Amino acid sequence: MSTDNVSMSHVGEFLPLLPLKDTVIFPQMILPVFVSEDICIRAVEAACAKDRFIFLSAFRAEGPAEDLEQPALMVSTPPPFDVYDLGTVASIMRTRKLPDGRLKVLLQGLTRGTVLNLRQMTPYPLASVRSLPEKELPRTPETSSLIRAMKELVEQTVQYARTITPDVLPLLLETHGLGRFLDIIAAHMNLKIEDAQKILGTIDIHERYKKIQMTLRGDIEAAILQGKSSTGSRDDVQKIHRENYLREQLKALKQELGEGGEGKEEFEEMRDKVMKAQMSSEGQGECLKQIRRLERMNQDSSEASLTRTYIDWMLDLPWSKMSDTKIEVTQCKKILDQDHYGLDKIKDRILEYMAVKKLNPNLKGPILCFVGPPGVGKTSLGKSIARAMGRKFARISLGGVKDESELRGHRRTYVGALPGRIIQALKQVGTKNPVFMLDEIDKVGADYKGDPASALLEILDPEQNNTFSDHYISVPFDLSQVIFLANANRLDTIPGPLRDRLEIIEVSGYSEDEKNEITKQYIIPKVVSDNGLTQDLISFQDSAVNFVIQSYTRESGLRNLEKNMAAITRKIARFFAENDEKGKERKQVKITTKLARELLGEEKYLEDEHEIESLKVGMGVGLAYTQVGGEVLHIEVKLLPGAGKLILTGQLGDVMKESVQAAHTCVRACAAEFGIDVKKFETQDVHLHVPAGAIPKDGPSAGIAIAVSLISAFRGVPLRQDVAMTGELTLQGRVLPIGGVREKCLAALRCGIRLVCLPEKNRGAFAELPLTVRRKMDVRFVSHLSEVLEHCLVDAVKSGDGVVNYALNARDGESAARTRDTAA
Ligand SMILES: Nc1ncnc2c1ncn2[C@@H]1O[C@H](COP(=O)(O)OP(=O)(O)O)[C@@H](O)[C@H]1O
Ligand SMILES: [Mg+2]
Repeated sequence: MSTDNVSMSHVGEFLPLLPLKDTVIFPQMILPVFVSEDICIRAVEAACAKDRFIFLSAFRAEGPAEDLEQPALMVSTPPPFDVYDLGTVASIMRTRKLPDGRLKVLLQGLTRGTVLNLRQMTPYPLASVRSLPEKELPRTPETSSLIRAMKELVEQTVQYARTITPDVLPLLLETHGLGRFLDIIAAHMNLKIEDAQKILGTIDIHERYKKIQMTLRGDIEAAILQGKSSTGSRDDVQKIHRENYLREQLKALKQELGEGGEGKEEFEEMRDKVMKAQMSSEGQGECLKQIRRLERMNQDSSEASLTRTYIDWMLDLPWSKMSDTKIEVTQCKKILDQDHYGLDKIKDRILEYMAVKKLNPNLKGPILCFVGPPGVGKTSLGKSIARAMGRKFARISLGGVKDESELRGHRRTYVGALPGRIIQALKQVGTKNPVFMLDEIDKVGADYKGDPASALLEILDPEQNNTFSDHYISVPFDLSQVIFLANANRLDTIPGPLRDRLEIIEVSGYSEDEKNEITKQYIIPKVVSDNGLTQDLISFQDSAVNFVIQSYTRESGLRNLEKNMAAITRKIARFFAENDEKGKERKQVKITTKLARELLGEEKYLEDEHEIESLKVGMGVGLAYTQVGGEVLHIEVKLLPGAGKLILTGQLGDVMKESVQAAHTCVRACAAEFGIDVKKFETQDVHLHVPAGAIPKDGPSAGIAIAVSLISAFRGVPLRQDVAMTGELTLQGRVLPIGGVREKCLAALRCGIRLVCLPEKNRGAFAELPLTVRRKMDVRFVSHLSEVLEHCLVDAVKSGDGVVNYALNARDGESAARTRDTAA
């Protein structure tokens, strides 16, 4: 039953009147009373017989009537009673007859009411009552802050003065309006009847507030003065009192100086903002608490500024702000195509992902992880996905993150504490449903305090991430609307449990043709407009593009290419800017090969850095797959007089060292088969070196290249330098498949090598390469070491139709010019 209903139905109605001794019942309070006098019992019975509504009114205290503010109802009919005409309309919840003849009545106060006149006194008092429903104040920042201030005062009263029972505290949480809030406090205040009656009689809520505030302050004051605080020593109490006093003085001074209002206003504004920020209830609570603390701090202290920073952070977080996302799969495809050339398989997978998101937005789908060399578009694919889905995008770089706190933030107790990268990224995007790209997830370190990988696990776990906790923010934040993507250069350094969460999508390097296309269609338009030019002011000749690709870059991705194209454009931009100043007209500049060389300086990579047309003893050409894509690997073997030792140099990794040993054993075991004098293994030391140490040379795939180099060295027969090979080798000489076929083939092509030996088992992987690449190559699939020899060892090469003269390297030259088949 709401107070409004009561007010509607009982205006001017007659209600039985129950006079109460020693008690004032406030609206909304539930209280049992004991009734023994006959007229009172009859009043209750009459109410129960009807609609259970009854009017409660307190007996006036003794003393001369004119002292009291409120007029008494003068009733002369016996039994004489003198009650206040202001009371409470209540409803009888339950009655129970006690053995001693008394009646226990459970009452609930509903609304204030006032007696207009008494209609009868017997058999029970019946009064005409006008109810005074509470005009509750709307909830505004002002009322909220009043409530907060009052609550604090109540807490202090409970603590220091004990004139309110602590039972009231839990009740104060659930209240709604300020009026009701005050009534609850008043009901627990242990007031004398006339004081309680005064508060009941104060219809104006602000007035009521002041009265209660004054009373409570008085209580605290009295307790402090009497030194009978329930907690702490007298000293504490005095300290509190003194602090309060000083603060009051300060306030008064400030007000006099005209500064007083400002501080207050600022906190009110802060509270206002907090209330409007649509935070989680935990977040809101924490902020209000911090503002309360802040109010009491010295505003110049460092703690105050820390607290302000914290509140600012909280206000800046997108607690409930979302981008509205509508997924149109066909539209998404268009956007993906706009941003990236080729990558058809990858785009298909992304579109499937989006389609599923569209049909079942709540599915906790897999986390797509793009794996591939740098500069192939892994990060920018993420950006594109965000654009297609209409969400904000942020890149969270994990490279070099060694400490959990970089992800989760530092506790606020640290000086200079900040939230972790996740929260920072959320602030940056300003929505709670962005796309986050976890960049270089393979580069998270785990060897320091706190394991960032395990924090990542929690972040990516849909079961847990709706209550992600950042140490700085300290209240849970819901990450469940965030779409996480990841990318990595390599898979093998991603911790296992983390890898299980990811769906791996390989993005491999681009061939020269693809680079050409991407440059023309994407990179040039981009760098041209980035540098403030238009395409009718600058045009690139195809040959110039080709020249830049071949002579200035040697990479799987597009990073350096993009940098070089930007460098050219920048220089032209400067040229135009200077010309403008001289008042010269702008004329289109054509970038030719010659001009490109002029602008970029000397070529970085000369075509024949790798002396492809030569033959060398003990030097095999391997292919490696590294973080930065494919690489050509030069293996050098020299024999020295000695006792059959194996010397390895070139900072080889463990796997590589094992590969060398395995190849060595394999060659030695089948020495005769390879035409080697077995005795040499005892009289010669083998020195194996892999130069160009920048690339980590781990991995078993150099096995056959090593074996071939050994055989060449032992036999003194040179190797073709235009044949590259890759494959793992068993002790029996079998060739096992390897990874990174595409990258390795592209690396070989970049060096002008067309003939490549690949393991037989990699036939399928090779078939997936673009036709333009396959056409340029001459691949031989091998399953045994002896087959490899047929392709690269000069005396084993079967001569073909074409005849080419090899320029023999003078130092290694042991045989004269040879012939080779020109398959290309
Ligand atoms: N297929 C492609 N089509 C167009 N531009 C591309 C393509 N792949 C990469 N790029 C461009 O190459 C640059 C490097 O990409 P980036 O995403 O940083 O690579 P990654 O994250 O893989 O290292 C970006 O400017 C990107 O737009
Ligand atoms: Mg990247």
